[in-house]
Amino acid sequence: MLSLGSGREKESRWSWFPEPTPLDLISLESQSCYRPMHKMKNGCSSQEEQLQVRRLQISDYNKGFIQLLQQLSVCDSVSDEEFNARFQELSSHGDDHVIAVIEDDQTGKIIATGSVFVEKKFLRNCGKVGHIEDVVVDSNARGMKLGQKIIGFLTDHARSAGCYKVILDCSVENKGFYEKCGFKRKEIQMVMYFN
Ligand SMILES: CC(C)(COP(=O)(O)OP(=O)(O)OC[C@H]1O[C@@H](n2cnc3c(N)ncnc32)[C@H](O)[C@@H]1OP(=O)(O)O)[C@@H](O)C(=O)NCCC(=O)NCCS
Repeated sequence: MLSLGSGREKESRWSWFPEPTPLDLISLESQSCYRPMHKMKNGCSSQEEQLQVRRLQISDYNKGFIQLLQQLSVCDSVSDEEFNARFQELSSHGDDHVIAVIEDDQTGKIIATGSVFVEKKFLRNCGKVGHIEDVVVDSNARGMKLGQKIIGFLTDHARSAGCYKVILDCSVENKGFYEKCGFKRKEIQMVMYFN
């Protein structure tokens, strides 16, 4: 059984950079690493099949979705009402904003998530760019290729939505993970915090 543990917060990931080193911007280079699920020969569901990627549902509030996000960054007090309101708001964007999750069927808990936002531009002949955000796997479920599965789902979505590229930013520590998913390092990221 997987239990949710407390993970390092997003902000602390930046502290590995000697100031004022900027962050990395990584863009998709090659094919998606998403792999289809398979049924085992004896007819039982494989672990892979139990751990499929799907879109966020409103009921995921009660399945530890917010607690999972807390392993990534500050996400202290999202009430039921606030969650419902934000869920409806994001849903109104349809395929332009997708939050992917993996639920552990054994425990009913959300153990991996990530999102992609489709930006519509004038550049590149009114092209579109996918922005991947908020990727986190439960600390007890890391190393099981769930992160890769989430990224594969999100990049597949961006590609089928007509994006010419998909980008994200990450810490140096996670560079290897995104390279395994087919991304490459490109340029830098700048940020200005308002609070
Ligand atoms: C980064 C994170 C999402 C990876 O998820 P995961 O499910 O543990 O990773 P996977 O099992 O899918 O790993 C896929 C491959 O990447 C490798 N990998 C995973 N994390 C890595 C890292 N930090 N550095 C280098 N390689 C890494 C794995 O070894 C595996 O390689 P293999 O195919 O050769 O076996 C997860 O560790 C996490 O949630 N970390 C905390 C939150 C965070 O930092 N999120 C990223 C925000 S940008």
